[in-house]
Amino acid sequence: MKFFVDTANLDQIAEAQDLGILDGVTTNPSLMAKEGISGEANVINHYKAICKLVDGDVSAEVISTDFEGMIREGEALAQLDDKIVVKVPMIKDGVKAIRYFTDNSIKTNCTLVFSAGQAILAAKAGATYLSPFIGRVDDISWDGMELIEQISNIYALQGFSTEILAASIRNPLHIVKAAEAGADVCTCPLSSILGLLNHPLTDIGLAKFLADHQKSSN
Ligand code: G3P
Repeated sequence: MKFFVDTANLDQIAEAQDLGILDGVTTNPSLMAKEGISGEANVINHYKAICKLVDGDVSAEVISTDFEGMIREGEALAQLDDKIVVKVPMIKDGVKAIRYFTDNSIKTNCTLVFSAGQAILAAKAGATYLSPFIGRVDDISWDGMELIEQISNIYALQGFSTEILAASIRNPLHIVKAAEAGADVCTCPLSSILGLLNHPLTDIGLAKFLADHQKSSN
């Protein structure tokens, strides 16, 4: 499974890259706003800065919701760097735009996916990645992981090549469960990735090793 970090924060992206486990970055308009990035030129410069930091795909989301606007924005984003993946919402014009980008060798990430039906449509349009929002499904008391499993089964059965990118990950257990459910990629806050490190027995074991080493060296 690939690991993407779900943030527009350059320090966090650099930290994840430095850890040696990073395969890419996903952003969205809310994450850009959280970093105070606004205005077309600043947004473009920020994407360029992210691409410089990371060794892998960088999802950059279009703001337009009509076909022509999405194509205009997506083509401009794709020209910034080979790493750019154009992120497109799961709406009718979005599906058309994904088909256009696919036919023009531009990678896409279909976002705001909440059902298996939407996943089938995105795959038919040739999306590179599909982003089901696990946490937001859980928020309404449905089961985000069941959705990942269902899409994973359908894609395997039908031979779709779209990669399932589990998004809206909120904690380390989500990452483990998404891996079990067949996600190809997990995009996570850095805190969830770092949370995978933690185990009390590791801390206790390490403290004992170091104490025993200290005793034997005295
Ligand atoms: O990758 C999508 C993600 O940024 C949304 O996460 O926590 O706002 O549902 P969240």
